[in-house]
Amino acid sequence: MSFPPLDAQQIRLASAALARGDLIGMPTETVYGLGGDATNGLAVARIYEAKGRPRFNPLISHIANLDAAMNQGVFSPLALKLARAFWPGPLTLVVPRHSTTTICDLACAGLDTVALRVPDHMLTLALLEAFGRPVAAPSANISGRPSPTSPYHVEAELGDRVALVLRGGASQIGIESAVVSVIDDKATLLRLGGLARGHIEAVAGPLLTPHQSALSAPPSPGMVLRHYAPNAPVKLEQTKSGSGEILIGFGPIFDDVAFNLSKNGDVAEAAANLFSFLRAADALSPTAINIAPIPAHGLGEAINDRLTRAAQG
Ligand code: TXA
Ligand code: MG
Repeated sequence: MSFPPLDAQQIRLASAALARGDLIGMPTETVYGLGGDATNGLAVARIYEAKGRPRFNPLISHIANLDAAMNQGVFSPLALKLARAFWPGPLTLVVPRHSTTTICDLACAGLDTVALRVPDHMLTLALLEAFGRPVAAPSANISGRPSPTSPYHVEAELGDRVALVLRGGASQIGIESAVVSVIDDKATLLRLGGLARGHIEAVAGPLLTPHQSALSAPPSPGMVLRHYAPNAPVKLEQTKSGSGEILIGFGPIFDDVAFNLSKNGDVAEAAANLFSFLRAADALSPTAINIAPIPAHGLGEAINDRLTRAAQG
C-alpha cells in the first residue's frame, strides 16, 4: 500500500517514536489510542502514568494481522473464527498468552491472558506493519474522561505526553471495541462496544457473562462505574433541559436541539457522535448534561452502557 508523502512521513516518525519508547496518539476506527511499544515495559508504564490509570488495568495490544497475533496469544478454533470474521475491526479478543509472546507483563497487568486487536484504520495498520511489534493502546484520554474521537481531543488532553498524534481524521465508530474473552470453546462478553452483541453471537453463539464463566482473571477491570464521565453531572432519559443545563437529543423529535446524536435516530451515527458531543457540551460548563433516551438495539446497548457509567456518582 502506498500513501501520500505526508502520511508516509507521519508513519515513519510515529514508528521511530515508538521504537524510542515514546508515546503517540494513534487513530483507530473506534477511538484514538495512546500508543506505546507493548514489548517495552517502560513505555507501557508511561501509558499508565499519562492516563493516571490504576496499574492493575490491562491494556489492549494492537497488531498488524492475525498471523502476528497468533505468536502472542493462543487461539482456539472459536477464537480463530471470531478473528477471521471481524478483524480488522472493533473486536478485542482476550486469549491465553502464548509461550512466544513478546508483550510485557505490565501490559497484561500480570494476568495469564492477553487482549489483542487488529484495528481497521489504514494509517495505523501501515504503522503496525512498519513498526513490526504490538502497540499497547488504551483510549487516549485521562482515566475516567470521555474517549477521544479526533486528533484534537488527544492534543488537548495529552498533547504534552505524546511525541506526535498521527492524524487519521475522526474515528468512524466512535465507541471502544467490544471485548470478548475466548478460552477453548467458551466466549464471554467482557465489554460492550463498537461491534454489536448480535453480530458477535451470529458467529460465536450466545455469549456468556463474566459472572457465568469461571474466568481465572477478574472480569474486565475497565468495567468500573463512573467511567467515561465529563465534568458536568450527566442525567439520562431526559427530554428537556432546565436553565444552565444542556440537552443532548436523539431522533427526529429533537430536531431543534443543537446537540442531536442522530436526527434520523440511527444508533451507529449516535455512537460516532457520543464522546465528541459529551466533550463539546462539557466545554460550555453547563450545570448538567441531559441526555435523551437512546434505544437499546444494535450499538444502542453499548451507548447506554457508557452513558450509565458517565451518569454514576
Ligand atoms: O477501541 C478500543 O478498544 C480502544 C482503541 C484505542 O483500540 N482501546 C481501549 O483500550 O479502549 P482500553 O485499555 O481503554 O480498554 C481495554 C479493555 C479494558 O476493559 C480492560 O480491562 C480489558 O480491555 N482487558 C484488557 N486485557 C484484559 C485481560 N487480559 N483480561 C480481561 N480484560 C482485559
Ligand atoms: Mg478508555
